[in-house]
Amino acid sequence: MAELVQNRLETLVSLCKRRGFVFPSSEIYGGINAVYDFGPLGVRLRRRIRDLWWREMVELRDDIEGVEAAILMNPMVWQASGHISNFSDPLVDCLGECHQRWRADHLEGDRCPNCGGPLSSPRQFNLMFKTFIGPVEEEGSVVYLRPETAQGMFVNFKNILGTSRQRIPFGIAQIGRSFRNEISTGNFIFRLRELEMMEMEWFTEPGDDARWFEYWCEQRMAWHQGLGIRADNLRLRPHGEDEKAHYALASSDIEYRYPWGWGELEGIARRGDYDLSRHQEVSGKDLQYTDPASGRRFLPFVVEPALGVDRTFLALLLDAYSEEVVKGETRVVLHLNARVAPYQVAVLPLSKKPELAAVARPLEHELRARFATDYDDTGSIGKRYRRQDEIGTPLAITVDFETLDDHAATVRDRDTMEQVRVPLSRLAEVCEERLG
Ligand code: GLY
Repeated sequence: MAELVQNRLETLVSLCKRRGFVFPSSEIYGGINAVYDFGPLGVRLRRRIRDLWWREMVELRDDIEGVEAAILMNPMVWQASGHISNFSDPLVDCLGECHQRWRADHLEGDRCPNCGGPLSSPRQFNLMFKTFIGPVEEEGSVVYLRPETAQGMFVNFKNILGTSRQRIPFGIAQIGRSFRNEISTGNFIFRLRELEMMEMEWFTEPGDDARWFEYWCEQRMAWHQGLGIRADNLRLRPHGEDEKAHYALASSDIEYRYPWGWGELEGIARRGDYDLSRHQEVSGKDLQYTDPASGRRFLPFVVEPALGVDRTFLALLLDAYSEEVVKGETRVVLHLNARVAPYQVAVLPLSKKPELAAVARPLEHELRARFATDYDDTGSIGKRYRRQDEIGTPLAITVDFETLDDHAATVRDRDTMEQVRVPLSRLAEVCEERLG
């Protein structure tokens, strides 16, 4: 079983490397643990994820505003938010031969999983990365790389309230990098030290938050399914008391069935007025909301759906990956939804002959205006179909010598491998219909 899990993951890691989705960071120096770079196809997929989230959460709604806060913040933010005192995991050291460090709550048993040696008692290890602001490296110039983007929304609550026409309930959304000095990493891009988060803080009347929590759990679950993730690989799991973050009244995870078992894809938390009240107390600034009808002043309660671009990326690839035997040969296919696929349409002239390029190039340029296109004239057509299948391109259009006479091209469907001849004049329309 463990071997199977490892194989499934390794197969994906190798595809990601081979096809230019994901590379280990600074690989020529041996990499750096739990940090990755995204290549040409990875960047395309990540942008689709971010754009789709932003469209759904900000652009298609009247009641959510966007913000981009800086990664570096005044360290008082983290004092107030509780991250300095609470954002930690229990760390144990191997006292045997290997001296490895482990996250205590991820261990089974009380011996070192590597060398079997005894373990120290656990101590709390803060996950925030520290650095210094300005030229002097002293205690007073310590700043942190943000471990969540959420605080950028809380400290800007009054700015956004004062500059938008929003009234409660409304939300503030942000996409951005966060950093966590995780003790135990692994499983490829599942647990990263540098990650990209998509978070939304939904401000509501105290007492209304339980209802909104249900609403956001449903909305977010539907979003993942809309990206093409299979419903039976998703579930909503409420957190036990011992799992909740320090700021949460209650929380649930939308979990994905990864090769190693169910794990978090998105976290949805009821943060109450924890953050606004802490910032009000520590900053001394009034962060209350005034109800325009009654004049009543209060600190809103918050519901927060938060997820990583990276985990969404991983879940999409795992869910889409398949190996299928066709005429005795195995073909690898990413059955990615057309909305997230790095390329939607590949234009493939049968050969490099200039007379085919003279048709295929302008065709690709025409389609480029409406779809994410690739142009590939290298290698045999079979090999090029396999390459496009492996990177999840839903449609491939082959321009051949007949095209010069019949002014039509062959459209091949990635999933069914069905091929149909379509007049050049109707290609854009047919792609539109098939891509949905
Ligand atoms: N803001 C959610 C999290 O830190 O996981």
